[in-house]
Amino acid sequence: MTEQKRFSVRNDHILHSGIFNSTLRDWQGLKCEITPKNFMYPIFIIEDEDAVQPIDSMPGISRFGINALKAHLEPIINNGLQSVLLFGVVSDLPKNDGATNADSSQNPVIKALPKLKSWFPNLTIACDVCLCPYTSHGHCGVFRNDGTVDNTASIERISEIALNYAKAGADIIAPSDMMDGRIGAIKTKLINNGLGNKVAVLSYTAKFASNFYGPFRDAAKSKPAFGDRKCYQLPSTSSGLALRAADRDVAEGADMLMVKPVMIYMDILKEIKQRHPEYPMFVYQVSGEYSMIYQAASKGLFDLKLGLMEILGSLRRAGADVIISYYTPQILNWLQQPKSKL
Ligand code: PBG
Repeated sequence: MTEQKRFSVRNDHILHSGIFNSTLRDWQGLKCEITPKNFMYPIFIIEDEDAVQPIDSMPGISRFGINALKAHLEPIINNGLQSVLLFGVVSDLPKNDGATNADSSQNPVIKALPKLKSWFPNLTIACDVCLCPYTSHGHCGVFRNDGTVDNTASIERISEIALNYAKAGADIIAPSDMMDGRIGAIKTKLINNGLGNKVAVLSYTAKFASNFYGPFRDAAKSKPAFGDRKCYQLPSTSSGLALRAADRDVAEGADMLMVKPVMIYMDILKEIKQRHPEYPMFVYQVSGEYSMIYQAASKGLFDLKLGLMEILGSLRRAGADVIISYYTPQILNWLQQPKSKL
C-alpha cells in the first residue's frame, strides 16, 4: 500500500521529464504526424474553362475552370499534394430530375478528368458522386411521383454516374448521397465493367445531416429547393446508425471509410477506426468548419497556423488517416518550411 502510494505520487511528478524538448514532445505523438500524404484537397470545377470565381461563404476558396485549375494546382503539387476530390458545379447546363448532366459529355468533371490525368499523372483523383448539384430539386436521390425517395432508382443512377467518372479517369469514387446500398451497387457496376481493381470506393460512411454544410451548398449551388436531407443523412445524435453504416459499407466492399463533419464527431471517428482498424479512415473538415476556423483566426482569436495544427494533430490522434481539407494548400506550404523549435 505504501509502495503504491509512493508510486502514484512519483507519477504526478515525472510527466514533464518526458516533454522538455521538442524531440521528446514529438515522440509522445509520433502516430499523429502530419505529412502531405495525410491530405486530400477538395476542388470545385466550373464550366467556364478559364474562370476563377471566389466563393463568398468560403473566404480564400474559389471555383475553377479547368485551365485556371492547372495553374492553381501546379505549385501545390510541387509542395507535395497527393490527391484531390472533385466537385462539379454547373450554372449553364440544365438541371433535371434525372440529373442527366452529372455525367454528360459537357459535365465539367467528365471534361476535366482526362486533362488532369495527362497533366498530373501522379495525382490521385477522387470524384464526389451525388445527384444534388445536378437535380432541379437539389436533393441527392431520384424521387417517386408521391415525393418520396426511390432508393432503387437512386442507386442505379448513382452507380451509372460513378462508372462514367471511372471511365473518364477517376481513381476513387466517393459517393456522398447516402442512399442505402450504393456502395454495393457501385462496386458491382465497376466490377461488371472491368474496372473492379482499377478504381477504389471511398464511402462517405458516417455523413451526418449537418448545419456545417451551409457554405458548401453556396459553393456547389446544391441547396435543396424544399425540405432537408434528414431522411437520408444520419441524425447528429445517433452513434448506432453510424456504426451500422460502417459495418454495412465494409460488407458491401468499400475500400476506405469517412466521417463528416469531423470536429464535433470525433467520438464516431474513434469508434469506427477501432471497429475497422484495417480500413484507411478519412475525415472531411467541411465548409462550415473551414469558414468557422477562418473567421475566428481572422478576428485574432487564435493564430491560424497554430490553431489548425492543433486541430489536425487531434484528428490524427482520434484515428484519422487522411484529412479532406480546404486548407490543404496552406498546410502543404507550412510543411515545406523548416520546423521551428519551440
Ligand atoms: C453533396 C455533398 C455535400 C458536401 C459534400 N458532398 C453537401 C450536402 O450533403 O448537403 C458537403 C461538403 C462541405 O460542406 O464542405 N451531397
